[in-house]
Amino acid sequence: MKNSKFLLGIAAAGVMSLALSGCAGDRTGGSTGGDGGGDEAGGIVGVAMPTQQSERWIADGENVQSQLEELGYEVDLQFANDDIPTQVSQIENMISSGAEALIIASIDGTTLTDVLQQAADAGIPVIAYDRLINGSPNVDYYTTFDNFQVGVQQATSLLIGMGVFDENGERTDAAGPFNVELFAGSPDDNNAGFFFNGAMSVIQPLIDDGTLVVPSGQTAFEQVAILRWLPETAQERMENILTIIGDTQIDGVLSPYDGLSIGIISALTSGGYSTDALPVITGQDAEVGSMKSIIAGEQYSTIFKDTRLLAEQAVSMVDALLSGEEPEVNDTETYDNGEKIVPSYLLESTIVTVDNYEEVLFDSGYYTAEDLA
Ligand code: BGC
Repeated sequence: MKNSKFLLGIAAAGVMSLALSGCAGDRTGGSTGGDGGGDEAGGIVGVAMPTQQSERWIADGENVQSQLEELGYEVDLQFANDDIPTQVSQIENMISSGAEALIIASIDGTTLTDVLQQAADAGIPVIAYDRLINGSPNVDYYTTFDNFQVGVQQATSLLIGMGVFDENGERTDAAGPFNVELFAGSPDDNNAGFFFNGAMSVIQPLIDDGTLVVPSGQTAFEQVAILRWLPETAQERMENILTIIGDTQIDGVLSPYDGLSIGIISALTSGGYSTDALPVITGQDAEVGSMKSIIAGEQYSTIFKDTRLLAEQAVSMVDALLSGEEPEVNDTETYDNGEKIVPSYLLESTIVTVDNYEEVLFDSGYYTAEDLA
């Protein structure tokens, strides 16, 4: 109840972006059937996804595939089990088997330079999906969420949960000090730095003025990053922190991804926290397991990123490129991959807690009540 006004505002922004992006993506809507939409479409599109270990990437893969197929494309969808050589060879195979465009969510954003040169030599356009591909001039477009803002939202919800911010995101008179521990994502994923920097833009001033304390003393990205976003690694790190800080009670944990939050919660409960007295813990992706945890009062918040809309953007970019048109972008400044600024289309994300999940996730049709039962 208490946070509903602030969260509603954020949800409304999300709905607006949904409506806007619905317009932008009209060509990919699929509701026109085969005839209405000028279906000279065809050809193979290679879709390289990082892993099936996390629900979001499975949903991304399925959404991209079905939307491309509705437009008449053939889809070669591959998941690489978070293994870099596997992803490289999957993309090589896509190129040699005649893909006309590539949509790639990379594992390590710096390891695709050679294979993308092969794509460029064969005249195949490349869309970076969700994660920027670094160090290559051969990335034509990028679609993602506003990743810095995702981090801002994670920190904001952490502070609302702890009572440092009110429901509008304004500073309360809670003096603290509050004990927080920080986690970041995989250092080879370009997004991880954006999430962390966005979060720290909110958190650092409160560390500086003494409202927040990090008992482990670990605040640098390199100290808090979790390679490959592995839940087990986050669990281990949380266990180590508990050993270092002894009896000090933790009030909040900045976690950048639901999978990590699950590992963190396991470490806390085995370390003596009861499930009804956990610190405020954030997340990302609104995965089913973590939504159930939020409903059960364990995890506090997550960030919902509508993968259907991201798929729609990627598909409309491919469709435009293969139809000789220019894809729509809304950011030409933020995403410098070391070789160029990659023209991007950014979507908005939404903070989800127990107070607004029904409205955000059920009303948009992302989940049904049974999915989370
Ligand atoms: C994505 C997040 C996801 C994380 C782990 C990031 O690149 O943007 O949505 O939580 O990878 O899969």
